[in-house]
Amino acid sequence: MSEFATRLIAWHAENGRHDLPWQQTRDPYRVWLSEIMLQQTQVDTVIPYYLRFLECFPDVSALAAASQDAVLAQWSGLGYYARARNLHRAAQQVVHDFGGVFPRSAAQLAELPGIGRSTAAAIASFCFGERAAILDGNVKRVLCRHFGIEGFPGERAVEQKLWALAERLLPEQGIEIYPQAQMDLGATLCTRSKPRCLHCPVHESCVARMTGREAELPIARPKKTVPQRSLGVLLVKTGDSVLLEQRPSAGIWGGLYSLPEMLDGESAAQAGLRRFGVIGPDFQAQPALRHSFTHFTLTLTPWLQVLSAQAAVVHDPALRWVRLDELAEIGLPAPILKLLQR
Ligand code: ADE
Repeated sequence: MSEFATRLIAWHAENGRHDLPWQQTRDPYRVWLSEIMLQQTQVDTVIPYYLRFLECFPDVSALAAASQDAVLAQWSGLGYYARARNLHRAAQQVVHDFGGVFPRSAAQLAELPGIGRSTAAAIASFCFGERAAILDGNVKRVLCRHFGIEGFPGERAVEQKLWALAERLLPEQGIEIYPQAQMDLGATLCTRSKPRCLHCPVHESCVARMTGREAELPIARPKKTVPQRSLGVLLVKTGDSVLLEQRPSAGIWGGLYSLPEMLDGESAAQAGLRRFGVIGPDFQAQPALRHSFTHFTLTLTPWLQVLSAQAAVVHDPALRWVRLDELAEIGLPAPILKLLQR
């Protein structure tokens, strides 16, 4: 058994996290849900979403039977909505293809939508004790530092090397603990900036530590400039209601309700107003909001139009008036919710 794994497991018993809501169970539904939520979101943010989601959809059959709108509404604010759509489709496959019982091997789990190799391995080891290696962002960072792996870990060749290494390090015993120990080490000690090496159970054999390269490893993604996009959105209000439009299911924020979107600029905003049949001359640009996605930065300019009740008739079936106090129940993208809360 590798010294690395032995030390991590021993460290976890004393210093790891043991009371996260998804650690109290070996139910693959609950573990799967947590792993999907945790893919791109921090533990503290995930916990309330996770608990609410389980209240709403207590098991895989309940999730499979729900509408996509209801699932997206529970996901609203967590971002990366493809995760929610894949979760829903995977639940339907578990119900239809596996009689509602999750497959037990990492290889089969990885066939389900939204479950990559690392997530499949995490579920299979937590729930079924399979000896399968995980390799998420935290683990990549730990391995690159500890073993002095050069090259950007997003590169195929570097990633393959890391997978091979991760598999070689797997312990014979304690596989239900080892993935969590690695995640916890990455999240609490071997953090991206200011790692706390003095507390690390494997600092004595860490290449980055020995060579003073903690800040350099893992090698950063080669720089490329992030494209900028600008959009206008219509913020049409009457009384305490706002006009929302459901977005097409493909693309960013697919299937979520949002403010009707237009090209940027005043004439586009005017044309947008006409398209929606809500005419009023006295509309105004509001302060813009910037939001960073992985691949681009979006600047959203809201164009405010307040309508009297008589003028507030819209004829487009994609549009819907929603009361401000109902916004929390609808799937809204986080930056749009932020604009509306302003
Ligand atoms: N990130 C991904 N999976 C996790 C888990 N099980 N616990 C904490 N953070 C995680």
